[in-house]
Amino acid sequence: MINTQPKDTCVLVTGGAGFIGSHTVVELLQDGYEVVVVDDLSNASEKVFDRIDQIVGDDAAEHLTFVRADVADRDAMDAVFDEFDIDHVIHFAGYKAVGESVQKPIEYYSNNIGNTLVLADVMRNHGCKSIIFSSSATVYGDPDSLPLTEESPKKPATNPSGWTKWMIEEMLRSLVVADPEWNVVLLRYFNPIGAHPSGLMGEDPKGIPNNLLPYVAQVAVGRRDAVHVFGDDYDTPDGTGVRDYIHVVDLARGHVAALAWMDGRTGCEVFNLGTGTGTSVLEIIKAFSAACGRELPYVVEPRRAGDVTANWADCTKAREVLGWQAEFGISEMCRDAWNWQSNNPFGYEG
Ligand code: UFG
Repeated sequence: MINTQPKDTCVLVTGGAGFIGSHTVVELLQDGYEVVVVDDLSNASEKVFDRIDQIVGDDAAEHLTFVRADVADRDAMDAVFDEFDIDHVIHFAGYKAVGESVQKPIEYYSNNIGNTLVLADVMRNHGCKSIIFSSSATVYGDPDSLPLTEESPKKPATNPSGWTKWMIEEMLRSLVVADPEWNVVLLRYFNPIGAHPSGLMGEDPKGIPNNLLPYVAQVAVGRRDAVHVFGDDYDTPDGTGVRDYIHVVDLARGHVAALAWMDGRTGCEVFNLGTGTGTSVLEIIKAFSAACGRELPYVVEPRRAGDVTANWADCTKAREVLGWQAEFGISEMCRDAWNWQSNNPFGYEG
């Protein structure tokens, strides 16, 4: 059956308690979708659901169900598909720490690839063949030219986390080849940052943040002394690495746009989700300093292994096909990240 109204459409969001997942759940509920979240809370807090409730209000929140389960738990996933008439899946659940993945390749491959295989098999068994996968610009590796379009070649990943994105893309493509009823959208995110403008939801990494923005935010709030800038001798205008940072709310809305577009279709499509603009590490520190009202200290360190010099997206395809484009700029991303961090200095559990 083709559903044309969000209220008739039930979306399973795996990893829906995480950073990008929770923001996507908010956008889905605000658009009137029925949402089922499956998350094992291995890297997320259950408190996020109270925050979602506060943002969307009780009426919309009634359309959200949370099931605490591991996506690799076949019996649990069978039970979810038995209970709910799921139309589409948005698959976020997975381990994502690049450095940790180098130390724990077995855990990363087994969790990320294993859970996707269980999910796809359970979906097939229940006749649900529509999935959005949370992929990454990491599949482009070290680019030959910029900006990156969806036609840019995939290059070898530099760590197991990246390889799992790379391989899961190919696995899902294979499903469409084997069975043309599958409907697969691969969304390649650039660098999601920021937080919900309400200040109620944001990024809450456990331990020392690996990524730039949460680290900068923790310096701003006084939890850490100085930002470590990994290399100032890159071939970029100020010598520091350049990335395409995208506000997490824009990214979340990109999922909703993709969902509306894919409804009733089949095949496999890839979309870049970024802003199309590159920003350097020093520019980020400057923008965050402006947002928090104080010059943030930084120290320059050697380059980090595996980092590319620069990447940013060509987002023409998402604009033309999905009718989506990012609305927020770096200053809004830093403003909202600071709002979240200053209101929740120790995250959800603080
Ligand atoms: N950086 C610092 N100091 C830090 C952290 C990062 O200078 O403490 C620099 C990096 O060298 C890089 C930039 O800030 O130039 C961004 O680094 P992030 O770690 O925030 O993000 P990456 O671009 O390395 O990686 C992110 C995700 C990956 C994903 C990739 C896709 O973390 O999971 O984007 O492009 F694969």
